[in-house]
Formats: sequence, structure tokens, C-alpha cells
Amino acid sequence: MLAIVSAMQEEISLVVESLAHATTRELGRRTFHEGAFHGVEAVAVFSRWGKVAAAATVTQLVSSFPISRLVLSGVAGGVRHGLSIGDVVIGTGLLQHDLDPSPIFPRYEVPLLGKSVIEPDPQIRDRLMRAAREFVREDLHSLVAPSELAWFRIRSPQVAGGVIASGDKFFASAREVEELRSRLPHVACVEMEGAAVAQVCEEYGVPFGVVRTISDSADESSAHDFPRFIREVARHYSLGILERFVRER
Ligand code: ADE
Repeated sequence: MLAIVSAMQEEISLVVESLAHATTRELGRRTFHEGAFHGVEAVAVFSRWGKVAAAATVTQLVSSFPISRLVLSGVAGGVRHGLSIGDVVIGTGLLQHDLDPSPIFPRYEVPLLGKSVIEPDPQIRDRLMRAAREFVREDLHSLVAPSELAWFRIRSPQVAGGVIASGDKFFASAREVEELRSRLPHVACVEMEGAAVAQVCEEYGVPFGVVRTISDSADESSAHDFPRFIREVARHYSLGILERFVRER
């Protein structure tokens, strides 16, 4: 069974519309939607926001559903120079930028796991990459309104691999992004769930992948059009990429 975890409630609503024979279960204030997603047995759930909430959601998934792989999708603030709104980052590694157990363990290292960057399953990662490239090339301009693409200045978005940094913080300051870049120069984008999901998947042996659409530059303007971007743009990206992901057999 494929677990579809999204950091956007709006996206889960769209995925649920595509689920055949859908049933729901409520556990721990989370609604788990089971059904067939384009012929693939799936369970879809909103991660909720932040590392603790996302870790709890995935732990519940692992405990209560026979999941064999997991995809996390959502939006992220762009950190790497050259990334623009509407670009897609496929995680090549997940890291907690706010984890500091030093001097007991090195900064960023997940205690007892012995690593700071958790890598996704290479097959899921590569498949997400192909799905996102096809989506951007073939579907984007029919699924997202031209007026919204123009508003967000999205023309031909890039799809790139990169390290995704997670933490319990919404970045809305150029100075803070610069500070993050100086201590973690290899980070592509920031969000609030990915590394927590990765850690639970790693510990329970669930192959996973992460896809994030760049919604903002993590600076002072990051919250301006945030709800509009999720409603009008990002949820269509996620659904379109997931559809291409499951259709590739
Ligand atoms: N998700 C989307 N944009 C973000 C930002 N600026 N900071 C943290 N998480 C985000």
C-alpha cells in the first residue's frame, strides 16, 4: 500500500476526490483516507504541521496500515540561489536544521541514528523526478490557470534534486535565510516536516520520497501570497506529480 502524506490539507482533499472506493478512519485527530488511487491501493493523510505532528502521523500510518512505501509532498521556501517560485525540489537528503545535540553528538546528527542527512529511496526519488519533469512539461499549463502562472511569474519551472532542511520554523526573513545558508550551504529549500517523516521511515524501514514545490523565497515576502499559492498552484502540482508517479509502472 502506498502512503500519500501531504503537508497541505488542500492537496489531500484533491487526492481524496480521485480515490475509488474511499473509506476513512479517524485516529489521533487525523483522518486517514483509504482507497484506490489510479488503480494503486493507497492511504492519504494530512501530515499536520511541524516535526512532531508529522512524525506522529507517520508513526500512526506505519502502525495501523500495511504501507510499503511513502511519498511526502508539499511546499517549501527556496534557499538555494537560482530556485524560483514554481520550481520543484525532489529531496536527495533530509536534514533537521534546528537539531543540535552537541556536544553529546555532532550538530544536526540524529541521536542514535548516527547520521544527520537521511536519504530517500533512490527508486522513489528518481521516479518522482521523472514524474515532476513530465508534469511541468505536459500538464502544468492545462492544470493551473494562466492568470495564476502569470501572477506568480511561473514560465518553465525547473525540477531539481537537493537537500531539504526541516525544522519547527517558518522562515520569513532574508537575514535568517542568509544565516542558514552560511551554516548549511548545501541546502536547497526549507520546510517543516520532511526530515521528521524521513526519520520515522528510516527507523521503521519504509522506503520514502519527498517532493516540494517552491512557494516563496523564505524572506519577508514569504507569507504574502501563501494561501493563494497553495490553493491555485501547489495542490495541482502535487496531484499532477502523484498521478504521473503512480501511473509509471
Ligand atoms: N514552507 C513553505 N515555505 C516555507 C518557509 N518560508 N519556511 C518554512 N517552511 C515553509
